[in-house]
Amino acid sequence: MKTPYFVIDADLIEANLRVLRGVIDRTGCKILLAQKCFSCYGLYPLISQYLNGMTASGLYEARLCHEEMPTGENHIFSPAFHEDEMDEILHICDHIVFNSPRQLALYGARAKKAGLQVGLRINPECSTQEGHAIYDPCAPGSRLGTTLSQFESQLTDNLSLLDGLHFHTLCEQNSDDLETTLDAVEEKFGKYLQGMKWINFGGGHHITRADYDIPRLERCIRRMQTEYGLEVYLEPGEAIALNAGELHCRVMEVQPIGSDGVKNVIVDTSAACHMPDVIEMPYTPPIVLPKESFPFKGDRRSSCVFRLGGPTCLSGDIIGVYQFTQEMCEGDEVVFGDMAIYSMVKTNTFNGMPLPNIYIRRGENLTLWKQFEYVDFKSRI
Ligand SMILES: Cc1ncc(COP(=O)(O)O)c(C=O)c1O
Repeated sequence: MKTPYFVIDADLIEANLRVLRGVIDRTGCKILLAQKCFSCYGLYPLISQYLNGMTASGLYEARLCHEEMPTGENHIFSPAFHEDEMDEILHICDHIVFNSPRQLALYGARAKKAGLQVGLRINPECSTQEGHAIYDPCAPGSRLGTTLSQFESQLTDNLSLLDGLHFHTLCEQNSDDLETTLDAVEEKFGKYLQGMKWINFGGGHHITRADYDIPRLERCIRRMQTEYGLEVYLEPGEAIALNAGELHCRVMEVQPIGSDGVKNVIVDTSAACHMPDVIEMPYTPPIVLPKESFPFKGDRRSSCVFRLGGPTCLSGDIIGVYQFTQEMCEGDEVVFGDMAIYSMVKTNTFNGMPLPNIYIRRGENLTLWKQFEYVDFKSRI
């Protein structure tokens, strides 16, 4: 098979979906897929058997949900909406969440008239994450969400337009941080929750991770249901496709040992083009093949330490430094794990890099879902 290519494992996605469905069944909450993380719509028929719908970051994702998961709820949030997209959004969406009192004033009444549920994203100003400022909507000066002082000074008579409040403050976090955030939401916005129909806890809940505390999450959900009579929505992305995808590539060249004692290996995939989160987050992806290969943390246990990088011009196009049990050779296959989330949705063709084909694995069957060619590069420019 021509490398590089992604493989999405439908069985592993389904295992994640079963965990999420358990939360829905035990609590009566609703869980949506955040399409920004994973929008391979070949899996939407499977996802629709377990979840209540999708959430979109703009018109295109909302259209994808409308076309490919027509039975589910279609929610949309954006920091700002385009006037010329509003008619279509109001036609296909069920919930619309505005980011600011100004956006609510511009479009709220129109959305209500069109029959949508209307929400406002609040900013509880409660940071619970360390080290990833670009993923922290509660960082000082954030443009995301309405703070209490903005809420009270700018909302004026549009409060009656609101059916619900939405917050999104977490990133790959456990339910203790959700609990802390809920305390802040209640302390600041508790008196406004009384008049609402629903609350949306956003995403960032790593519910399908082995150490995730699901009972605590369910206590958080029940707390909002019993104290305020609210319907509770969650809209995770990562939790749906966590550890359910691979990126396969091949070694193109092994360079002689470098000035820092590490051999550079050029592979035919690129951090910059195929897994930009490796650079943005940043993080070092796990390797599932060759087996027993680990990110190198200075604990040299073998002489086989390699820096894997892409064939682009970017010096920083480095996937990571790894320790292997054997030497690497030209033509060897390398498979990166946990590559279904924020990967396919973020690929680009910088340097004319080909986009990886996408396969879906179900049991023993591997089906080619998307094949990319030169035209996919040319048509974007
Ligand atoms: C508003 C909103 N909802 C949901 C999500 C999904 O988050 P995650 O994929 O981390 O669960 C995000 C991610 O950025 C988001 O911004």
